[in-house]
Amino acid sequence: MEERIEELREKTERALLGGGEDRIESQHDKGKLTARERIDYFLDDGTFNEFDQLRTHRSHNFGMEEQQIPGDGVVTGYGEVDGRTVFVFAHDFTVFGGSLGEVFAEKVTKVMDKAMEVGAPVVGLNDSAGARIQEGVDALGGYAEIFTRNEKASGVVPQISAIMGPCAGGAVYSPAITDFVFMVKDTSHMFITGPDVIKTVTGEEVGFEELGGATTHSSESGVAHFACDSEEQALDQIKRLLSYLPQNNVEDPPRVEPWDDPERRDDALKSIVPDQPRKPYDMTDVIDSVVDEGSYFEVQENFAKNLVVGFARLDGRSVGVVANQPRVNAGTLNIAASEKGSRFVRFCDSFNIPILTFVDVPGFLPGTDQEHNGIIRHGAKLLYAYSEASVPLLTVITRKAYGGAYDVMASKHIGADVNYAWPTAEIAVMGPKGAVNVLYRDELEAADDPDELREQLIDEYREEFANPYTAADRGYLDAVIEPTETRPRLIADLEMLASKREDTPDKKHGNIPL
Ligand code: COA
Repeated sequence: MEERIEELREKTERALLGGGEDRIESQHDKGKLTARERIDYFLDDGTFNEFDQLRTHRSHNFGMEEQQIPGDGVVTGYGEVDGRTVFVFAHDFTVFGGSLGEVFAEKVTKVMDKAMEVGAPVVGLNDSAGARIQEGVDALGGYAEIFTRNEKASGVVPQISAIMGPCAGGAVYSPAITDFVFMVKDTSHMFITGPDVIKTVTGEEVGFEELGGATTHSSESGVAHFACDSEEQALDQIKRLLSYLPQNNVEDPPRVEPWDDPERRDDALKSIVPDQPRKPYDMTDVIDSVVDEGSYFEVQENFAKNLVVGFARLDGRSVGVVANQPRVNAGTLNIAASEKGSRFVRFCDSFNIPILTFVDVPGFLPGTDQEHNGIIRHGAKLLYAYSEASVPLLTVITRKAYGGAYDVMASKHIGADVNYAWPTAEIAVMGPKGAVNVLYRDELEAADDPDELREQLIDEYREEFANPYTAADRGYLDAVIEPTETRPRLIADLEMLASKREDTPDKKHGNIPL
């Protein structure tokens, strides 16, 4: 028996070394942790249970039979984050560059299948040179086995990807299907084709970081939701994100012990919205004042900044927050904002997270660039996402809610449960100036002093239409409230809506405009 145990210990020790001391050192020299160090940092102490530690590849090509490394380049299993079960796989770059072959893929699909069976999140720590060249089509098939599970798990368990090294070619599509992508500045890169191929095919010269680094993907392409300064920061942020989420789609998100007074009324809210209608303010100040102190966790902070999205808590309950940001492009909706908002709304709806929407939107961004690139179909995504959402929807109009954008931003008409406006709200088909120019074109042309008449008509229009009271009269708003009442009202509403159930007709799936 002793001998057998000794044999097992030796095998385990060998597996723990991955690609060996030299390659581990080289990994550290690149400023990266190893797969096991990452898992160790991420999971609660002593909770990791590994699967398939001793598996090796079955390849006989290019002398691969001589190179058998237990674990085959990926560390998989489950453990706990803040006491809750999480499945995890971490590519081991020290083993064949973390490249993916048949057995590697089987290990990953095993944890994905288990995660779906038991209803727990999957976190993938990616650091891989892509398809293992020696394994040819078996490697490609392995990727597809993972992709199809990403689709099956979508909307069933939260899927989170951290990119902590290269992630190129077909390999990008697994993270791309997952719900949230974290990248680490300088050490992680995602692209379909790298700088060399781009230069050969198009002549364009571009570096790795500019092409597919964390900053590019978190601000330009929107592929990454978070750009982190270090691997540790990325792993900490993933833990924070998980704290807002349920384990799966049939659970409610966890409610934490409340730490902020539900009756707190922040006087700062009285003066956040400026008296001048065109003057910007920071909508995140409104969010911070209303939600539980320190709970706002912004997602995609640097992409489409004209719409902010993130998670927060109200009296300890998780909510998804979506809000126009008047500080950027006056809070208009454009293509990028519509995509950002719709994906976030759909995530929250999949996982039973109520959505709180703050509205200050002068409309969709005008221009040929937007029109020709399809603002119509992209804007429709946001409308579609809100309309199909069956979670509690709570909406607060702080200032402008103009035109179609009023409808889109979780209006009563598309299914919101509770709609409020502050007294500063202006709900109208368009802004006063545009409206007056259309309505009184002939009068303005004939006037001796058109500017004076325009100003007078704008004042009249604002008085009559640019306020919340017509909408309140129709019942499209449930109440016009003082800004300081927002927090206690929303908390009471969330409590009331906790048991909300909505029946939707059976269908295979809708056809959201993509
Ligand atoms: N298949 C099998 N082994 C691979 C591999 C692949 N696709 N890519 C890299 N490796 C191996 C290397 O042979 C090397 O092995 P060794 O440690 O025994 O010497 C190890 O992985 C590390 O690769 P290396 O090139 O030394 O690392 P690097 O940090 O300098 O470069 C990459 C990393 C990813 C930029 C580079 O390896 C690369 O371009 N690989 C090919 C990527 C690719 O085209 N993949 C297929 C597309 S899906």
